[in-house]
Amino acid sequence: MARQRLTPNDLDAFWLPFTPNRHFKKEPRLLVRARGLHYYDAKGRALLDACSGLWCVNAGHGRDTIAAAVAEAARELDFAPSFQFAHPDAFHLAQRLTAMAPDGLDHVFFVNSGSEAADSALKLARAYHVKRGEGQRFRLIGRSKGYHGVTFGGLSVGGIANNRKPYGPLLPGTDDHLPLPYDPAHMAFTRGEPQEGASYAQALRDLVNLHGAETIAAVIVEPMAGSAGVFASPSGYLKELRALCDQYGILLIFDEVITGFGRLGFGFAAERYGVTPDIITFAKGVTNGVVPMGGMIVAQTLYDAFMDGPEHSIEFVHGHTYSAHPLACAAALATLDIYRDEDLFARARTLAPVLEEAVHDLKDAPGVIDIRNVGLAAAIDLEPDPKAPGRRGYDVMRRAFHEHDVVVRVSGDTIALAPALVAEAQDIVEMTRRLAAALSQLT
Ligand SMILES: Cc1ncc(COP(=O)(O)O)c(C=O)c1O
Repeated sequence: MARQRLTPNDLDAFWLPFTPNRHFKKEPRLLVRARGLHYYDAKGRALLDACSGLWCVNAGHGRDTIAAAVAEAARELDFAPSFQFAHPDAFHLAQRLTAMAPDGLDHVFFVNSGSEAADSALKLARAYHVKRGEGQRFRLIGRSKGYHGVTFGGLSVGGIANNRKPYGPLLPGTDDHLPLPYDPAHMAFTRGEPQEGASYAQALRDLVNLHGAETIAAVIVEPMAGSAGVFASPSGYLKELRALCDQYGILLIFDEVITGFGRLGFGFAAERYGVTPDIITFAKGVTNGVVPMGGMIVAQTLYDAFMDGPEHSIEFVHGHTYSAHPLACAAALATLDIYRDEDLFARARTLAPVLEEAVHDLKDAPGVIDIRNVGLAAAIDLEPDPKAPGRRGYDVMRRAFHEHDVVVRVSGDTIALAPALVAEAQDIVEMTRRLAAALSQLT
C-alpha cells in the first residue's frame, strides 16, 4: 500500500495519547509495518517488538488468517447493531470465550476496550446489588498501583497517582484502595510469584470493619498488575481475597486485560491461580490487537439476577454502538483459532523460564533497582533521577528504539517486556541483550 511520507509539518495535528507530544514530534518513532516479532520503520529497519505491541499482539504480528477473516467480514457484514439485533459470530465468540473461562462464568458482554470493560464491570456490580435489594452496596474497591484504563470508573478504582491527579474528584464510593501486595524491601528481585504476601488480602477486612461489608459492592484487581510494572500476585493471595469476598458478599472482579490470552501461560490467570472471580474483564489479546475489542465474562448467578421483570424490558441498560462489532468478532475468532492450533498458552509456559533467566541477568546493569517477572511478562525498575523522575526510563526507551532496534514499553522509570507467545528462546535473549546495551548508556 503506497503511503505518503510524513513531513515535520504533518506531525502537528495528531495529539498522541500517553506521550510527551512536544518531544515526540522533535524525534518521532514511526512504525510502518509489522510482521512476526518485528516492527519496521519507513527505511525498512527491523525493530524487535519486546512488548507485543502494547501487551496485545500475543500471536505475533501480521497473522494472515486474522487479516483474511477481518477482510471477509468487512465485505460480508460491515456493521450490525447489537442493540435489539445481532449477528451469528457474536454468539460463536461468546461461546468460545466462556469455554476458555472457569466453570460458572457463562455469559459475555462485549465492549471495545479494556477501559470500557472495567467500567462495565463496575456498573454491573452496582446494578447487581440494586437488583437484589442491596443498593446500599455502592463502594468499589481497587488497589494501589492498579490500572483499569482511563475512563472515570476505571480511573477511580485505579491506583496510579499520576493518572488520577489532574482530574479532580473521581467517582463517589471509590476512595478506598487495597495495598499492592509488594514490599520492595523484602521482595525485590523475586523470580515469579512472591512466596510470602498472601496476607495482604486481609486489608479488605480493615475496609469491611471501617465501612461495613453491607456498603461494599465489589473489589477489582489485576491478577498481575501489568501497567504499574509486572507485580505478580503472591502465592495464595487471590485465594484469600476470594474467601473474604465470599464471606462478606462482595463481588470479585479480575481485570484480565493483560493477563488473559496466554500472558501468564493460561487462557486466563484465573486458571493459573485456581480462583474463580465473579467477572473477568478482557481486551487486547482477544483480537491479537488487530481490531479493538473488550468485554466481560460474567457468572451465571449475576446474569440470572438480571433476567427478571417483563420480557420486553431491557435487563442491563448498558452497551456501545460497536459492541460485538462484526470485524472484531471475526478477528477474535481467528485469533482464538491460532491460540488453540499453535498451543500458544502452553508455549508461553515453556518460554517463561527463558524470560525469567534473561531478564534477571540484567541485575547488575546500571541503575537497576528491581526486576520482577511472571509468565511472559517482566519489568525492570530503574533508580529515578531525583531531579527528573521518569527521565531515565524515557531515555532508555528512546535509545533502545533509535540505537538498538528494540521496542520496549516504559512507564515512568519502569521498563516492561512482554514478548509475543510465538517468540523463540533466542528472540527473548536478544531482546534483553539489546535492552542491556541501552541500559549501559544510562546517565
Ligand atoms: C489491566 C488493564 N485494564 C484496562 C486497561 C485499559 O485498556 P484500554 O487501553 O484498551 O482501554 C489496560 C490497558 O493497558 C490494562 O492493562
